[in-house]
Amino acid sequence: MKTLLRSTDTLGILEAAKIIKYGGLVAFPTETVYGLGADARNEAAVNRIYAVKGRPADNPLILHIHDMAQFYAYADAPEYFELLAKAFWPGPLTVVVPKKSTTPGWGTADLPTIAIRMPSNESSRLLAKHAQTAIYAPSANLSGKPSPTSAHHVLQDLDGKIEIVLDGGHCIYGLESTVLDISDSMPRILRPGFITAEMIHEQIGILPESGHPQSKQPKSPGVKYKHYAPNAELTVVNGSPASAAAFINEHASIAGKRIGVLATDQTVEMYDLNKYSVLNIGDRLKPELIGAGLYAALRKFDDLGVEVIYAEGIIGTGIGAAVMNRMAKAAGGRVVNL
Ligand code: TXA
Ligand code: MG
Repeated sequence: MKTLLRSTDTLGILEAAKIIKYGGLVAFPTETVYGLGADARNEAAVNRIYAVKGRPADNPLILHIHDMAQFYAYADAPEYFELLAKAFWPGPLTVVVPKKSTTPGWGTADLPTIAIRMPSNESSRLLAKHAQTAIYAPSANLSGKPSPTSAHHVLQDLDGKIEIVLDGGHCIYGLESTVLDISDSMPRILRPGFITAEMIHEQIGILPESGHPQSKQPKSPGVKYKHYAPNAELTVVNGSPASAAAFINEHASIAGKRIGVLATDQTVEMYDLNKYSVLNIGDRLKPELIGAGLYAALRKFDDLGVEVIYAEGIIGTGIGAAVMNRMAKAAGGRVVNL
């Protein structure tokens, strides 16, 4: 199949909307990462998303909506949901809420709950509007690869496998949305993102719990899979700029292997460019910038043929929590705390 590449002007969006209507797959930009969308009412189209990505069937998708009527067509919600929607939608917050009895099983892995968000990226909302349907969309990468933050990344993974990619440039946030489960008595952040626990607390007066309840099945099925990983083996090194750089300089030499270092403004001068492929991801004190560039950097290391990556960790509070969550996942748990 030839994958079309179009810009997010009106013509491009109308063409993509038509493809959604006819049951095709559209990769489109959102403010977080690119999504791979299908008509939520079309079971075959939604199932094709799983086939194309190589996504395990028990990992549910996020429903992307463009207005609140679409939300209530699929889901119910606790009263305080309105406060969240008012504060954070459109924007990078996904809520997990009870499904309506009429909502089909596909796209949600037959769970009793459904994940929904209203993106702030205008093209993604216009796509749902013109297609006259809500759109199920996971990130538009092959399962296990870093999420795409540009149309080029999408094509790296899915060229020839989907009908069309809408190119809306680089995603401003660069990390996936916060997933907040409000289907139980206590709100719980299943995946940290740019909307932080503190921001949610401010709106609803309850500080959400974080992570997954120990005793139960993972509530967000996606979290049990290795995610966001580059081809190279990645190790995260947490510590002060000087100590992290010293550790990496001491340990990062494996005979015959090409080594990459993900450095920061504070340390980039400390690495020998003859020894390592060094990428500077920016100022350690600006986690939003580091988040925006993280996936592109991981893909860049793959392009460079790097086999082993050392990445400096940053402070894991606020938006830094989302950055460190993704880094730790990409590292498959290889984290050194100095
Ligand atoms: O920013 C984003 O959220 C991007 C853009 C495209 O919107 N989408 C995205 O989708 O990251 P995906 O499929 O890569 O991640 C969805 C996450 C997975 O961890 C999945 O397990 C979880 O949401 N999820 C979906 N439905 C759920 C449910 N009913 N209960 C718990 N977790 C759910
Ligand atoms: Mg994903």
